[in-house]
Amino acid sequence: MICKITKKKLIPFMSFGKMPIANGFLRKKQFKSEFFFNLEVGFSKSISLFQLNEHPKPKQMFNNNYPFFTGSSKGMIQHFKKYSQWVKKNYGKKIKHLIEIGSNDGTFLSNFDNKKINVMGFEPSKNVAQISRKKGIKTINKFFNFNNAKKFKKLKNNIDVITAANAICHVPNLISLIKGINFLLKQRGVFIFEEPYLGSMYLKGSYDQIYDEHIFIFSLSSINKIFNLFNFELIDGIPQKTHGGSMRYVIARKGIFKKSKRVNRLLLNEKLKNIDNYKGCLKFKKKCENSKKKLISMLKKYKKNKLKIAGYAATSKSTTILNYCNINTKYLDYICDTTKEKIGKYSPGMHIPVVSMDHFKNNPPDKSFLFAWNHKKEIFIKEREFTKKKRWFAHIKI
Ligand code: TYD
Repeated sequence: MICKITKKKLIPFMSFGKMPIANGFLRKKQFKSEFFFNLEVGFSKSISLFQLNEHPKPKQMFNNNYPFFTGSSKGMIQHFKKYSQWVKKNYGKKIKHLIEIGSNDGTFLSNFDNKKINVMGFEPSKNVAQISRKKGIKTINKFFNFNNAKKFKKLKNNIDVITAANAICHVPNLISLIKGINFLLKQRGVFIFEEPYLGSMYLKGSYDQIYDEHIFIFSLSSINKIFNLFNFELIDGIPQKTHGGSMRYVIARKGIFKKSKRVNRLLLNEKLKNIDNYKGCLKFKKKCENSKKKLISMLKKYKKNKLKIAGYAATSKSTTILNYCNINTKYLDYICDTTKEKIGKYSPGMHIPVVSMDHFKNNPPDKSFLFAWNHKKEIFIKEREFTKKKRWFAHIKI
């Protein structure tokens, strides 16, 4: 097992077992041919990088039927509006060209006036890219990598800002992506991206952030070390509340901008909390094992008391919890979700039926596993009555 960046030996430290594609919601007739892989994580010491050992090919995950739409959460729509305002305020005074990597349904890019700024998204999943195009956003239905970036010769060293959100950790060939950025970015350009943060995952024990699409769980230390290898540097880091704790990273070419005091402080904090070293991995492993034991015994208790249990939101994250803890229809009657592409199908691996929100309203369970715990603010308001009766639970503190 080797690190995807340094090609040096990786230290594997934990397996979550046999795992299906996290977003691979399927029909009964597909059960037999379902794809599984070993979800194992490892740590690359020299660049402090937490990563998957084995993973499916990107095309197996991001295809014509990708069922994740950024715009399905009101909270995320608001977040992307604020994110775009922050970009404009801090880096966008004179920008002419902006690219988003993994632009999904165009939720972020729709905040820019494309009469004033040339915006362009790269989105490999065709069905999602089409939604973005319908909003009038120029969308390239391709993966962002060096080869595809080179096709835009006229834009060479011409892009002011390249952004991404919850996309860079999906890219196994990060080296090619960085070369693509290097090709397109201006001398004084910046690359800004947000990803689920390793420090938050460690703190909460939210191991459900680990699934096929999340090839890497980044920290400031790892991002700093990776980009340094390619003549870039981390100049700022801004913690975010999204996805249960994310980090916004700002990258520039070496020696152009001053590093913020904040990023230096955050980097030091990672050292103090073992987020940049192997000790942190071992502590996290223990946390996961304890969480699994606690969750199973709680579910058994609920079932002994004849409680009806359901899942709320068929998230990608739920695939890791359900398969790692072996939670099937013996425990959960159904999982409700708002996504029409998931309703009527079954959850990956454990084959729990995915139903509409009406089903939840008409057949409310006694207890509900909140799989979209990262959207709890929005969901607790929406499900006021259920929340009042304290019927939610999760594998972590919510
Ligand atoms: P998210 O945590 O963003 O997903 P993931 O783990 O896949 O990255 O949650 C998205 C899923 O949650 C999506 O299937 C829609 C569903 N969802 C609801 O069903 N109701 C809601 O109120 C919200 C916010 C999400």
